[in-house]
Amino acid sequence: TSYENLLVEQHGAVTLVRLNRPQALNALNSAVLEELITAFAAFEADPTQRCAVLTGAGEKAFAAGADIKEMAQKPAADFYAEDTFSRWTSHFAKAVRKPWIAAVNGFALGGGCELAMMADFIIASDTARFGQPEIKLGIAPGMGGSQRLARAVGKAKAMEMCLTGRMMGAQEAEQSGLVARVVPLANLLDEALKTAAEIAAMSPLAAIANKEMVQAAFETTLDQGLLIERRIFQVLTATQDRLEGMAAFIEKRPAVWQGK
Ligand code: HXC
Repeated sequence: TSYENLLVEQHGAVTLVRLNRPQALNALNSAVLEELITAFAAFEADPTQRCAVLTGAGEKAFAAGADIKEMAQKPAADFYAEDTFSRWTSHFAKAVRKPWIAAVNGFALGGGCELAMMADFIIASDTARFGQPEIKLGIAPGMGGSQRLARAVGKAKAMEMCLTGRMMGAQEAEQSGLVARVVPLANLLDEALKTAAEIAAMSPLAAIANKEMVQAAFETTLDQGLLIERRIFQVLTATQDRLEGMAAFIEKRPAVWQGK
């Protein structure tokens, strides 16, 4: 498949997706969002692909938000009729069961920050800046920003960021729990691809299971989450990969995963 607004490459078992509208700081218009759904559906469906990395083309931005020029004149009735962003706030993040990492290489603002927060985790460049500046446009987040940011960094910082629109730098984002790791911009892509390759080398069933149970921590009560964890754990004990993984440990050799 070829895309107008994305660059998609396969690096072994890792799919690399780059948002590619650098002249607009990778702003997310509806064409980009549709292509992203297609690209991630292809990643999900391809059994050779085990982990994905999403980043922004150019040195300046991951994505500077939803496309303001596209939204500026759009009638309210259209936002409502299309249920704009609904597939983004929940369906997209859930439909992708395989793990994926956001490699945030610059501005991640508004919808860009929201998209990054849909990833399983974020690796950020030291130049990354996160924010929900929608309030400055007379609007508010619409793709999960208020909910995922509050869960990631807590009420105080989420409220402050949404109410003032201020940006958070990479160091503060790491200290606040928004990002897993900060690396120099020059190393970002290598580090993200290396981390993704590490995940891609695990049993694919175990990867999906680990992702699913951590996600459950944000969806449910502790008691139900612990039950989900035990049940998924128990399901995994029925796999070939579990027998192989434990045998390989005991025999002091690398495991060979079947995905079965
Ligand atoms: C459309 C955008 C854009 C955006 C940048 N551009 N952000 N176009 N939508 N979100 C375009 C600019 O118009 C400009 O193109 C080019 O990208 C470069 O941007 P500059 O502003 O010239 O760059 P700079 O001065 O370096 O400032 C960088 C910036 C600024 C601080 C990131 O661009 C900025 O504030 N952008 C908007 C950020 C924002 O408000 N995002 C939230 C959007 S609302 P031209 O051709 O004009 O020179 C949102 C809601 C989602 O995301 C939730 C659902 C409702």
